[in-house]
Amino acid sequence: MSIDSARDLLEQSIIYYRGEPVGTSAAADPNPVAANYEEVFIRDFVPSAIYFLMRGQTGIVRNFLREVMKLRGQQAVLQGHQRSAGLMPASFRVIKDTDGERLEADFGDRAIGRVVPVDSAMWWVFLLRAYAITTSDWDFINSDDVQTCMREVLDLYLTERFESSPTLLVPDGSFMVDRRMAVYGNPLEIQTLFYGMLMTSRELLQCSEAERERLDNLDIRVRALRAYVRNRYWLDRERLNEIHRFKGEEIGIEASNVLNVYPESIPDWMDGWLDARSGYLVGNQGPGRVDFRFFAQGNLLAVLFGLASEGESQGIMNLFELHWDKLMGEMPVKIVYPAVSGKEWMYLTGSDPKNMQWSYHNGGNWPVLIWTFVGAALRTGREDMAEQAVRLVAQRIEIDNWPEYYDGRSGGLVGRRANFFQTWSATGLLVAKEILENPSNRVMFNLFAFADATAKGCGCPGMEP
Ligand code: GLC
Repeated sequence: MSIDSARDLLEQSIIYYRGEPVGTSAAADPNPVAANYEEVFIRDFVPSAIYFLMRGQTGIVRNFLREVMKLRGQQAVLQGHQRSAGLMPASFRVIKDTDGERLEADFGDRAIGRVVPVDSAMWWVFLLRAYAITTSDWDFINSDDVQTCMREVLDLYLTERFESSPTLLVPDGSFMVDRRMAVYGNPLEIQTLFYGMLMTSRELLQCSEAERERLDNLDIRVRALRAYVRNRYWLDRERLNEIHRFKGEEIGIEASNVLNVYPESIPDWMDGWLDARSGYLVGNQGPGRVDFRFFAQGNLLAVLFGLASEGESQGIMNLFELHWDKLMGEMPVKIVYPAVSGKEWMYLTGSDPKNMQWSYHNGGNWPVLIWTFVGAALRTGREDMAEQAVRLVAQRIEIDNWPEYYDGRSGGLVGRRANFFQTWSATGLLVAKEILENPSNRVMFNLFAFADATAKGCGCPGMEP
């Protein structure tokens, strides 16, 4: 793979607004599958931004952070309802008319299935930290606009609603998997981003007496969330054995099977799936429900952010090693394993033909996930796995014209309805190669892992100017 061709694709994807670069389009495909791939998606911009930051092109990231901040809270609401100022759009586009240029946001109101982008504001906060680490631009971070924005995001995400656990309760398709896939409730990827966002906010929010209560609440939530995910989402042989022997119908606070999960719900494919060294965080938890599917991005982010404990992180990488063919295959990384099919596919996806088994969100292989995979592999001392994965992606992706995703059990086929020249397929690889080959760039990545102790008080000593 030539680095130049990936960089050319990134260059072509840059979107300008009033003469300034403000982001990158999801794809630079002359014939995109869907019109909105010409827009700047918040989540898609993340690997672009990390690459720009690593190369010292910080201006575009700052512009992006500023413009998205201004677009927040513009979602349509029912008459009489209060608009939440902390919601950020899934994507935005530049509209040119007789009055000049303006940005138009999409909060899911123009998107397929009208999904709410719960992940956007969390990725925005994550990028703010990456920007802070790289530039030390404290004037921007400490400006009233940015501090107010962080407070409003926190107010939305920490508002008490219908949660019965410290995890965040969300509708279906509210993150990278943005179509119906039975990922409603408490999906893992949202919980890891939530954790990253809370930890980032407590580092970047300015200390003041007025903030004390908000920060105390945040600390309590983050500790509870971490303990909850490490205990309840973690699945290894020992835990599986416990579930296998669970008793149902327990009532009262002493219950051990609190969610009333029945052993009969353990799927057949779990039999023999885990060896004594491996484990992972399950895809979702709810009443009477463990979603046993393995979602790669949530697990990898949990390793990167330190939400998974050291031992759990090793267990996750051991699982990748054990099931390399299934989870990495010919084109790393499989988004979810296994795929659902037949009646289950009908019920869980609403018979979505794009999400047929082993395609797209339902078990497709997504090259963009290489950056989080390599980040997690390096963090856990698995350089050989990182190298092998990068080699696999690099040997095909340019020849295939940078597809968005691949199909098939081992990811051997170009995705049936995949876009070509997908920006994050190129930037994922650029970031992965950069951290693999250039250890000085790992510094930023190492800082993605948050210190384990949430000592009382705000501000992280290492982050001050
Ligand atoms: C698809 C993906 C989503 C991505 C968007 C633009 O909808 O599921 O995660 O943000 O395409 O690339």
